[in-house]
Amino acid sequence: MAVACCSALATHCPGLAISLPGSAAYNLTEASYWSLQESNLQPSCIITPSVPHEAASAVQVLVSNPACEHVEFAIKGRTHAPAGGFANNNGGVTIDMTGMSTVTVNDDHSLASVGAGASWLDVYAYLDPLGKSVAGGRNGAVGVGGLTLGGGISYFSPQVGFTCDTLVNMELVLASGELVNANSTSHPNLFRALKGGTNNFGLVTRFDFTTVPISKILAGGLVNDISHRSAVFSAFAGIAGAKHYDVHASIVVGLLFNSTSNTWVLSSTPIYTLPELRPKVYEPLFAVPNISDTLEIAALHVFANESATPPLNWQFWTGTYGVSANLLDKMFDAINTTLYSFDIPEGILWDIAFEPLPTVFTAPGALKNSLGTSPSDGNSVVMLLSALWPDSASNGKVHKRAAEVVSAVNEVAKEMGLEKEFVYANYADWSQQPFESYGEESVRFLKKTARKYDEHGVIQRKVPGGFKLSG
Ligand SMILES: Cc1cc2nc3c(=O)[nH]c(=O)nc-3n(C[C@H](O)[C@H](O)[C@H](O)COP(=O)(O)OP(=O)(O)OC[C@H]3O[C@@H](n4cnc5c(N)ncnc54)[C@H](O)[C@@H]3O)c2cc1C
Ligand SMILES: *[C@@H]1O[C@H](CO)[C@@H](O)[C@H](O)[C@H]1NC(C)=O
Ligand SMILES: *[C@@H]1O[C@H](CO)[C@@H](O)[C@H](O)[C@H]1NC(C)=O
Ligand SMILES: *[C@@H]1O[C@H](CO)[C@@H](O)[C@H](O)[C@H]1NC(C)=O
Ligand SMILES: *[C@@H]1O[C@H](CO)[C@@H](O)[C@H](O)[C@H]1NC(C)=O
Ligand SMILES: *[C@@H]1O[C@H](CO)[C@@H](O)[C@H](O)[C@H]1NC(C)=O
Ligand SMILES: *[C@@H]1O[C@H](CO)[C@@H](O)[C@H](O)[C@H]1NC(C)=O
Repeated sequence: MAVACCSALATHCPGLAISLPGSAAYNLTEASYWSLQESNLQPSCIITPSVPHEAASAVQVLVSNPACEHVEFAIKGRTHAPAGGFANNNGGVTIDMTGMSTVTVNDDHSLASVGAGASWLDVYAYLDPLGKSVAGGRNGAVGVGGLTLGGGISYFSPQVGFTCDTLVNMELVLASGELVNANSTSHPNLFRALKGGTNNFGLVTRFDFTTVPISKILAGGLVNDISHRSAVFSAFAGIAGAKHYDVHASIVVGLLFNSTSNTWVLSSTPIYTLPELRPKVYEPLFAVPNISDTLEIAALHVFANESATPPLNWQFWTGTYGVSANLLDKMFDAINTTLYSFDIPEGILWDIAFEPLPTVFTAPGALKNSLGTSPSDGNSVVMLLSALWPDSASNGKVHKRAAEVVSAVNEVAKEMGLEKEFVYANYADWSQQPFESYGEESVRFLKKTARKYDEHGVIQRKVPGGFKLSG
């Protein structure tokens, strides 16, 4: 089936790069997936369009050529969504967008146009020397495509909102194969829907972002002994819950558990988007005795250039909560109770991280994106639970235990009246339901827009990877 579809692509899209199983190019793309759950899937061919019209004709073939009738396809960016099948497909076709990774700026550097397959490092390396940046991902290896379409949490978000809120335009291939611009005057509903709608509306080929000014920033990490957790939680809650949030502060506090050594440690990244080594906002955190401190003033494209992790199984899970040091204390106890004696062959590392989602962050995009978040939610905290482990035979066991951690944490929050709706798609497990969490108005809007731009539900059916509006 899919082999004939791959031949049809070769016939109807002259010049399109197509790699087949066994080839060096195919192996290289497969090896580039961040998680083993993704790299273990084997598409019948991988296509790598290099210009928008090539991407459009490939979609036309995939959607309407009889040889492709029962063939599914996946859209691949920089592969940082860990769940299997989100950006790869077993037996179908994978569209690798990394052939379109060019970054350009307009004359006054106020707008950056970014090929949808670029990594954030591509963007930062290009813009840093100009004193500009885009409010994008923190780790440079992450893709512009997936992160932006799911929202996007950036160091600059307290200043400008989610990454998607800084878009002025997107160029995309619709289910019909038509190449269109979505912006505030051209297909404005599609423009809004795409900001949080993930891959449900088409294949995005270019993002045009408003830039932000940047010089160097406070970057690096701080590690504290687990016995100091209450002091760290209290410092974190002071920052995240502040009535006047310091918009330059962007902090992640992570609880790390190593199942082999049976030890917890606290690992924070207190970033400040100005070149200040000891910003006042971090005084209470810095007063806590630390085990290691790698904080420094750095250029974003240097700090974001993190070394790659080895091939591992990964899971992400998420939840959103009210801000309270007491809640975090209780959550820690619930997490420790659930995880402490869990182990698998070759061990597992858990990282339960908390990040502020203050009202200054949700204000710019309220009702302009489809995420459903707004300042009326109050200052909040987003949790990202990650698990990483080598033993693929344990995947089911880990999934079950991670689900137990998340429900234990949610239970604690519920008891304190601090549970919030928002399930951030970019941090969610495949079994979670981010769209439902956006609220009724947004879900209705997303579904209506999907019906308008893809009346036959082609994307819902043929692009099974990721969160689906119909599912
Ligand atoms: C190490 C690490 C650091 C992270 N840091 C951050 C962070 O700082 N802030 C944050 O908000 N999130 C962060 N994330 C989460 C990240 O936003 C998601 O994993 C996101 O999905 C990654 O996008 P990608 O393009 O790299 O991934 P992919 O796995 O390639 O794609 C993810 C999804 O987006 C779809 N997609 C990708 N490109 C397109 C396109 N052009 N058109 C249509 N659909 C497309 C894919 O089909 C897939 O379903 C991080 C994740 C990791 C693993
Ligand atoms: C690609 O990987 C396959 C399977 O591991 C291997 O058989 C093949 O030789 C590789 N191809 C190249 C060109 O390295
Ligand atoms: C919006 O799309 C229209 C139609 O393609 C285009 O002419 C216009 O330049 C776009 N606006 C922006 C801000 O990109
Ligand atoms: C976990 O602990 C074991 C045993 O102390 C150690 O060998 C391993 O490096 C640790 N793993 C990580 C990721 O820190
Ligand atoms: C971490 O601890 C060291 C040693 O006490 C101290 O010099 C340093 O200032 C601390 N780091 C921060 C960010 O306060
Ligand atoms: C990222 O770091 C590697 C070495 O660790 C270097 O070779 C590469 O040029 C760096 N990339 C950028 C964009 O600075
Ligand atoms: C985690 O739970 C274990 C087992 O109940 C307990 O021994 C340990 O002290 C707890 N860890 C912390 C830091 O509270």
